[in-house]
Amino acid sequence: MTEDGMEKTYTCTAPVNIAVIKYWGKRDEDLILPINSSLSVTLHQDQLKTTTTVAIGNSFQEDRIWLNGKEEDISHPRLQSCLREIRRLARKRRNDADPGVDSTGLTHKVHICSINNFPTAAGLASSAAGFACLVYTLAQAFGVEGELSVVARQGSGSACRSMYGGFVQWLMGHQSDGKDSLAQQHRAESVVPGRMVEMIKAVHSKDFTEFAELTMKDSNQFHATCLDTYPPIIYLNRVSHQVINLVHRYNHHYGETRVAYTFDAGPNAVIFTLEQHIPDFIQAVRHFFPPETNGGEFIKGLPVPHADLSEELKIAIGLEPMPKGISYIISTKPGPGPCVVRDPTQHLLGPDGLPKNTVRHHSPETDTVAKHKNGY
Ligand code: DP6
Repeated sequence: MTEDGMEKTYTCTAPVNIAVIKYWGKRDEDLILPINSSLSVTLHQDQLKTTTTVAIGNSFQEDRIWLNGKEEDISHPRLQSCLREIRRLARKRRNDADPGVDSTGLTHKVHICSINNFPTAAGLASSAAGFACLVYTLAQAFGVEGELSVVARQGSGSACRSMYGGFVQWLMGHQSDGKDSLAQQHRAESVVPGRMVEMIKAVHSKDFTEFAELTMKDSNQFHATCLDTYPPIIYLNRVSHQVINLVHRYNHHYGETRVAYTFDAGPNAVIFTLEQHIPDFIQAVRHFFPPETNGGEFIKGLPVPHADLSEELKIAIGLEPMPKGISYIISTKPGPGPCVVRDPTQHLLGPDGLPKNTVRHHSPETDTVAKHKNGY
């Protein structure tokens, strides 16, 4: 224990996930139980991740949380659900007399500090990474083990899928208490209805064409359903529609489905393709969405080799270029689930239990994130 009474500090990271079969309706708003099962790909944390530090201290007066450098209201019901559940599980474990449980912190308050390493914008699943990281880190701090996706789900539905790496299913479940509404790393034997069956088959047989087509159809259906509500919910903008056109014309030119798009609750496109097609497709994007000459890097994340764009492809796509329509692309790949950060210098909270200076000073861009999508 430090002089000021801080007993334990834990830091973890968690990934973003992108649904290819989307979750878009709830049968229970409080427990966050979905009306359908969904399936996602977890993205690599080298490019996109949330980092969260949880400190437990006997001198802390109250639970507090800082998101991307700014203190937020901890009384938000979804935050409270996660905190309550983790404390309940810790108490249960202690009552079950598990000698592995350190119960000193159970009555103490927590300080939580969380940041995203990506300039979050609407539609990049940051609430998923945020709640997954919160729950995973709280579980470390309180010595809770077991099925944590059920807890993350109560923060934000899609967060339960960020508790695993690779391809992840969120099984909708049927119980009214939500205990069977959980995520699991993709398994073939799970039987789920509708498009999920086809998607699981495609993933298993590594059939990219089928995977890509189902992904695009599911995204289109989600946005059609949004438009068909009254009043309509409109997430896509002109650039999104132009990206959709580009993808279809690109695939048509090659006579095969090489690239797929999907959009969540925002205008940003997530593109899936196989590694060998990345340079060519990126050149096509660069051509039809010419970047700002003095802007920052157009391609962030994993390096993309240069490719020359053929005149035939330009003619076949034949769209009117939209200068500065796309600010930048983040190039990434599938990756693992949440991780514990062992290096104590990486804690976001200092020995006084308050955010370190480096965390407090943030860019306005990251601040927007906290308001929009890290939406606790
Ligand atoms: C469109 O998980 O953000 O990204 O449960 O209300 O927090 P809440 O919703 P959230 O919904 C994300 C829905 C989606 C599709 C998906 O990720 O499956």
